[in-house]
Amino acid sequence: MKDNFCPANRNRTMTLSDNEKQRYRKHLTVQLPKEINNTIICSDLFDILPKLPAAFCDLIVADPPYNITKEFNGKKFKGTNTAQYTGYLRTWLPEMKRLLKPTGSIYVCGDWRSAAAIQNVLEEHFIIQNRITWEREKGRGAKSNWKNNSEDIWFATVSKKFTFHVERVMMKRKVIAPYTDNTGKPKDWNETDGGRFRITYPSNLWTDISVPFWSMPENTPHPTQKPEKLLAKIILASSNEGDVVFDPFLGSGTTAVVAKKLGRQYTGVELNEEYCLIAEKRLELADKTAAIQGYSGGVFWERNTLAEQKNVKRPDMLRAAIQNSFL
Ligand SMILES: C[S@@+](CC[C@H](N)C(=O)[O-])C[C@H]1O[C@@H](n2cnc3c(N)ncnc32)[C@H](O)[C@@H]1O
Repeated sequence: MKDNFCPANRNRTMTLSDNEKQRYRKHLTVQLPKEINNTIICSDLFDILPKLPAAFCDLIVADPPYNITKEFNGKKFKGTNTAQYTGYLRTWLPEMKRLLKPTGSIYVCGDWRSAAAIQNVLEEHFIIQNRITWEREKGRGAKSNWKNNSEDIWFATVSKKFTFHVERVMMKRKVIAPYTDNTGKPKDWNETDGGRFRITYPSNLWTDISVPFWSMPENTPHPTQKPEKLLAKIILASSNEGDVVFDPFLGSGTTAVVAKKLGRQYTGVELNEEYCLIAEKRLELADKTAAIQGYSGGVFWERNTLAEQKNVKRPDMLRAAIQNSFL
């Protein structure tokens, strides 16, 4: 359970009533269904993996248990040494290549303890393109160590030919030094209703995304839920509308939910029934709103700039600014 201490009326963490559990249970499949697109399979990945068809997906987002001891709704994953964690990764990560199309990409999440193993195993089977560092902002302080505040997201591809749309994941940053040219016109920045902003290229250091917390509607009781904004960056950059996105460790369903919101197809596997039911509820809610906190008007906003988001009346102006920044 996450640290959800808060005034009860402002806690927006998703819950499931008994009725909802019954209803969503009917959607769940425990075997590999005939049609795997847009399904959540509630099963052990290792039972499903050999049955999944070759080259069925365009993008894989894998957020496995990290190399630390962690409990997922009663099931404990035990942290171990790098050699043993490497062995664990070798039981499923190489298989991901078979599932991807030749132009496919894979993103693998991990912390610093998992990094050496992930890099080694990825390198054996894929072409590593980058390692993104996500500054999570929230971490637990330690008395005799540095607080662990970052995570890695490894980006690798099957071949040298792959989808990548940088123009879809541009960042909108507040201008600190508003330089002008000789004629007094803004240099690389725009005056908007919400202030002065610059549209910039995204780097491999992601400082604009917070972990979901209790006041956010996307929050669930899953202990290691990824933010929708993080998945939106990956999915927008590395897939096209209609593509299939696969998540072998679906958890509370974030990858599937964001894929659906962005017009992609999804397949997910998750061992724990409770998490699968939460994912089903989130997928149903995604029919009502496709909003992704922190992504608006076709750009990613800095952390905590929701107030400015509300002031954006003309997303078309932002898109024009993005176009201009490529000229
Ligand atoms: C790090 S969490 C993923 C969190 C997810 N990205 C989210 O946003 O909620 C890893 C998940 O993998 C699941 N898991 C662990 N081993 C599994 C297995 N062998 N088969 C299927 N799911 C598994 C756990 O139950 C857990 O929910």
